[in-house]
Amino acid sequence: SQLNIGVVVGSARRDAFSKKAAEELVSYLPESYQVKFLKIEQLELFNQDYDDDGTTPESWKTFREEVKGMDAYIFVTPEYNRSIPPVLKNALDIASRPYGQNCWSGKPGAVVSVSPGATGAFGANHHLRQVLTFLNIYTMQQPEVYLSNVGDLLDDNGNFIEGTKGFIKSAAEAYTDWVSKFKR
Ligand code: FNR
Repeated sequence: SQLNIGVVVGSARRDAFSKKAAEELVSYLPESYQVKFLKIEQLELFNQDYDDDGTTPESWKTFREEVKGMDAYIFVTPEYNRSIPPVLKNALDIASRPYGQNCWSGKPGAVVSVSPGATGAFGANHHLRQVLTFLNIYTMQQPEVYLSNVGDLLDDNGNFIEGTKGFIKSAAEAYTDWVSKFKR
């Protein structure tokens, strides 16, 4: 049976390395996985008033329904100032509310962090894990996926080099295994 996999990329940048990494990862998932990249950059900045006074933006409503409809998630994020980018935090917050209506809850997930720098967006990876814990997403622990010096992991055609493909493929297999442990 089909599984709906929601991919959330923490960058709206046209040529985002994190989007490239996400596309590579999902290319190794089974055919029964229906992969959807969840768009987040159009979401109005969270303000609790909009829910409290009944002016909830349409974009939030649509996004919350989308998130609820997924069976599992994959988060691929860059690092901004040693944390996650605001566009990603905003999306996580929006679908976690109103209070008691956390749309993320009870689903498996995985975290991939990507950086052109040496530290592999470790700070973002672990700040994200902290948030996902509270959102009650069952985050895969191993393998941890830090793609550091990502510029060096891409060849002249913009494709990941063989070693990195192998690593990302093994992460995709571990994720498939992880997702299979959870009942729907
Ligand atoms: C960055 N960048 C960055 N990189 C990093 O490894 N650690 C960091 O703390 C930061 N901080 C940071 C803050 C801000 C505001 C910006 C705009 C950028 C660089 C970042 O990794 C780089 O721009 C990536 O290319 C962003 O990821 P995408 O868009 O390619 O996925």
